[in-house]
Amino acid sequence: MRSILVVNPKGGCGKTTIATNLAGYYAQKNIPVSLVDLDQQRSSYQWAKSRPASAGEIDIRTEIADDYSTKRVIYDCPAQIHLGLTTDLINKSDVIIMPINPSIIDHRAAFKFIFDIRGLIRADLCKKIKIGLVANRTNAKFKSYTEVEKFASMMQTPVVASLRNSQNYVGAAEAGLSIFEMPGQKMRPDREQWRSLNYWAEGKLLKKTVGA
Ligand SMILES: Nc1ncnc2c1ncn2[C@@H]1O[C@H](COP(=O)(O)OP(=O)(O)OP(=O)(O)O)[C@@H](O)[C@H]1O
Ligand SMILES: [Mg+2]
Repeated sequence: MRSILVVNPKGGCGKTTIATNLAGYYAQKNIPVSLVDLDQQRSSYQWAKSRPASAGEIDIRTEIADDYSTKRVIYDCPAQIHLGLTTDLINKSDVIIMPINPSIIDHRAAFKFIFDIRGLIRADLCKKIKIGLVANRTNAKFKSYTEVEKFASMMQTPVVASLRNSQNYVGAAEAGLSIFEMPGQKMRPDREQWRSLNYWAEGKLLKKTVGA
């Protein structure tokens, strides 16, 4: 079993979008997957419950379990997550995906969070875990993207994917599906951007990890 923690205390940065699409990715590959919605808003839960009967099965939960019968577990965390829960989840996870919007306000919040996690690791309160940043709703051509890269380099944390602002995510969410399960070629550019993110979730870092 492999567990993936999607976390960032900043609200609206793309945690649920990434957690649900990753769950859909595994479901369409017939890899048994649990999606744990830890946010009281229950957006992941509602998405999972709205999936069409033809879509691959996702074991949807609203609480952390001691054991799962699936091969992948994805934690969709709430905004303003406290360090106690963060510690607990890091100790249960194999890798972190941290979506980040390209704005100085978001970078400052992310700085504090990564700093706090490193403090927990140094104090031996949680295990050493790799954090992969996902530059969300941006494009390598934007000036703001350079700022994400600068931030990543300062934090010595890789940008493992860059996702453009795309209505495909909105359409897929409305259909109870992921971009990997939607029909047609329209999703292709977004799926392509996910390649390095899917690798990261599996514990692999693609050489070319930045750029849209
Ligand atoms: N790459 C994207 N392209 C277009 N829309 C996006 C993208 N990423 C996220 N969104 C939209 O932005 C909004 C916030 O995203 P999401 O709910 O995934 O963030 P979140 O971090 O889970 O928020 P919260 O902290 O409230 O749980 C949603 O309406 C979502 O559809
Ligand atoms: Mg959310």
